[in-house]
Amino acid sequence: MSEHQTNSSVKATYDEHVMPIWKSLNVPIKQATGCTLEDFDGNEYLDLFSGISVTNVGHGNEAVVDAAKDQLDEFVHGCSYVHPNEPVATLAETIADVTPGNLQKSFFCNSGTEAVEGAVKLARKYTGSKEIVALEMGFHGRTLGSLSLTGNNAYKKGMAPTLNDVSHAAAPYGYRCSTCEGDSCDESCADDLEHVIGTHTSGDLAAVVVEPVMGEAGIIVPPEGWLERVQEIAHDHDALLIADEVQTGYGRTGELFASSHFGAEPDILTQAKGIANGLPLGAFTASAEVADAFEAGDHLSTFGGNPVACAAALATIEALQDGIVEETREHGEWLEGELGALEEEFDVVGQTRGIGLMHGIELVEPTETGPHGVAPQPDAELATAVSDHLREESNVVMGVGGYYKNVLRFQPPLIISREQLEHGLSELHRAVETVQEA
Ligand SMILES: Cc1ncc(COP(=O)(O)O)c(C=O)c1O
Repeated sequence: MSEHQTNSSVKATYDEHVMPIWKSLNVPIKQATGCTLEDFDGNEYLDLFSGISVTNVGHGNEAVVDAAKDQLDEFVHGCSYVHPNEPVATLAETIADVTPGNLQKSFFCNSGTEAVEGAVKLARKYTGSKEIVALEMGFHGRTLGSLSLTGNNAYKKGMAPTLNDVSHAAAPYGYRCSTCEGDSCDESCADDLEHVIGTHTSGDLAAVVVEPVMGEAGIIVPPEGWLERVQEIAHDHDALLIADEVQTGYGRTGELFASSHFGAEPDILTQAKGIANGLPLGAFTASAEVADAFEAGDHLSTFGGNPVACAAALATIEALQDGIVEETREHGEWLEGELGALEEEFDVVGQTRGIGLMHGIELVEPTETGPHGVAPQPDAELATAVSDHLREESNVVMGVGGYYKNVLRFQPPLIISREQLEHGLSELHRAVETVQEA
């Protein structure tokens, strides 16, 4: 690479040598602070996506960076499962304190998908059973085990076979549910889980794996009581509830963990993304009874429990506990009203939904209903066009996702100010208006 980089030079090298696994946003990052990204041509962007919901306490958070630097000076590779070390021990103790229920012992790895796979291994070891039920449209990662749980074949094309002892139950997607509609949605969709266990499995279940709020599926918030009912059904079948909080954890929803909103106490809780504000770290945490089903040699990761990432995680949790979680809740309540107004104003905005700073804006064809008398047809092209317009005309970065790829994802760093939120919203309003007219 040459000395002086520009957006095009970085992009050219990237395209030539990095595997083409994602249609990346055309914003090479030179620097990032708070909610601001800066590219190589000197443009600044308001980040409303946090690098897929990761930098919860802000890009370059000083306390997190300092904690990581201090640890770098001490030692970088603790090989934590060979040499017990202090950052791992203190982080595990802290996670036991801040997670719901009596979750006590953690295993540290490097990503969300590893956390999910480890949690499934632990559930199998503890229960002595094999089968897993996850949700249609759910997302749990892209390595082959987690991919088997992921309920969306868009991620699986060309990758089969995946595990064959995984079944999928209906997602609590009220807006596009064929049995209940929008506001009348209740936890009865959890009963599909009972049906799937009865019809698709041997009944010999190790775990039911769900996201308390479904992220990649399009920010799907379940109705009150749904998660508790899922837990009840899992336990009725002697299976564990694994809450995949890789995306919802660490303050994102206005609680440290989203399970707390819904009164559920998962048996195993998976974490990654926001845990260390961008340093690679994943974890799964279980009660002592469940965790102690693992014996020496059952599981390991050479880089798992990296002390630098663990030190960053401790600083992240401390920052979150300094008012950020409460602010996230307040921002979320305000945002819900503002996005609701957008839904009222534009026919192409089918539904807005979310909790804390995890909101989705579902774009649709402007018709009353779709083919089955339920929600209008998803409009993925429109969602991409709005996101492109936001980035190119307003310097605002927002993600696009959802099972139908038609949901704008509003997931900024949680330290965002009300002023920045207002700016993002007014640019979103402008983008929807312009793109819809075009
Ligand atoms: C709920 C959930 N689980 C697991 C994963 C996989 O995490 P990673 O990309 O760190 O492997 C993701 C990633 O988006 C996720 O949202």
